[in-house]
Amino acid sequence: MTITTLPRTFKVKSFGCQMNAYDGERMAELLSAQGMEPVDGDADLVVLNTCHIREKAAEKVYSDIGRIVKNWSRDDGSAPLIAVAGCVAQAEGEEIMRRAPAVRMVVGPQAYHRLPAMIAEAAAGRASTDTDMPADAKFAALPPRRRSAPGAFLTVQEGCDKFCTYCVVPYTRGAEISRPFAALLTEAESLVAAGAREITLLGQNVNAWRHDGKGLADLIRALAEMPALARIRYTTSHPADMDDALIAAHGDVPKLMPFLHLPVQSGSDRILKAMNRSHTVESYMRLLERVRAVRPDIALSGDFIVGFPGESEADFAATLALVDAVGYAQAYSFKYSPRPGTPAATMAEQIAPEVMDERLQRLQAALNRDQVGFNGSTVGRRCTVMVERRGKLPGQWLGKSPWLQSVHFLGEATIGDLVEVDLIEAGANSLAGRLVERVLG
Ligand code: SAH
Ligand code: SF4
Ligand code: F3S
Repeated sequence: MTITTLPRTFKVKSFGCQMNAYDGERMAELLSAQGMEPVDGDADLVVLNTCHIREKAAEKVYSDIGRIVKNWSRDDGSAPLIAVAGCVAQAEGEEIMRRAPAVRMVVGPQAYHRLPAMIAEAAAGRASTDTDMPADAKFAALPPRRRSAPGAFLTVQEGCDKFCTYCVVPYTRGAEISRPFAALLTEAESLVAAGAREITLLGQNVNAWRHDGKGLADLIRALAEMPALARIRYTTSHPADMDDALIAAHGDVPKLMPFLHLPVQSGSDRILKAMNRSHTVESYMRLLERVRAVRPDIALSGDFIVGFPGESEADFAATLALVDAVGYAQAYSFKYSPRPGTPAATMAEQIAPEVMDERLQRLQAALNRDQVGFNGSTVGRRCTVMVERRGKLPGQWLGKSPWLQSVHFLGEATIGDLVEVDLIEAGANSLAGRLVERVLG
């Protein structure tokens, strides 16, 4: 069916990592700047901003497309305008339209600034695909930031050169690039002017950010100079790029929050080698010791893969031992998912699904135990909470502690406030706080 009018309303649905969430926000800003209106319900244009990291994530896009077509309720002969963006778009390109003809646009993560032109083409009945990877071009072409929640994302680095043998990111996001220092300060300033109190710096390897001789620690220190910015975080880091300057910043930049997401993936050196991770268990543990030496209360987080090809029971036991030794405040764990085109997908000794299931359960039990333990250990402490939204109960507010825990409390507050609370009770996923005072309105 040919669509003859330009869409007036749109919806962007993002899946996957925080960098995709950032891209989703930027696409929404771009479409709004074109005069389109964001809606929750039936939209003229739906952008599915997809993730390709594991098989289940990638398949989700096709069930979503089916649902959008099936639920289309307008009886005026029209059809929904569907765009597939994100990492599935980059990985599968035009193949998506062969499998799902309802899709009219396929646009990769480095090309979405060209969406307005693609929409005009689609409205004229021509489907298009754009999976070019021009380094850094999209940022210059996007409109400035105008509105922000108290917690904002800022992509500073994109792509990955690490080529872990299981991972699609180097193929879907391309080579590592760092955005220029000045452009980042400008974007941070507009975010703060638009209401941001906390900025999370993002990158597939955020701590690999380098520009003009500066590293991530220099960028963090520069941002910390902005009076209205209260908190700084960054994610996701690679152990190989954790330099001395960044570790030192954890010790002496008060606005840098005491939280570090540093994925290890496995506790077995043999598996780490097969994964092409450049660290060993020992080098990883030494790194954590150095961070803890400058910031003893730091909350540690990580990612784990169970069932990588060749993983023996002894390898897995080493992962459990590492978890016991670290005591993570929280962590993500996944079953290995073979991804087309990656070296690990064709390795011998793929692990049976039931073995992976069982290992994942054991790992998650250990991680949950430590998460509950960490949350419990913060009860009795006084800390600031950044208020993010209202809770379910009247007068209740929800926000984040410095250690990225969800905290709920009752009392007078507004979204964006930084309030002081006493942590009085801990659950597995959140804590209860008692309001002491409003620190910064
Ligand atoms: N750049 C980040 C991670 C990006 S992907 C890093 O290196 O830490 C997020 C997480 O997804 C990874 O840390 C890994 O644990 C998981 N992951 C990536 N590819 C996977 C695969 N093929 N199967 C299962 N989990 C995977
Ligand atoms: Fe993937 Fe490894 Fe790059 Fe992380 S460092 S994005 S896991 S290739
Ligand atoms: Fe997924 Fe792409 Fe992020 S594959 S995890 S959306 S970089």
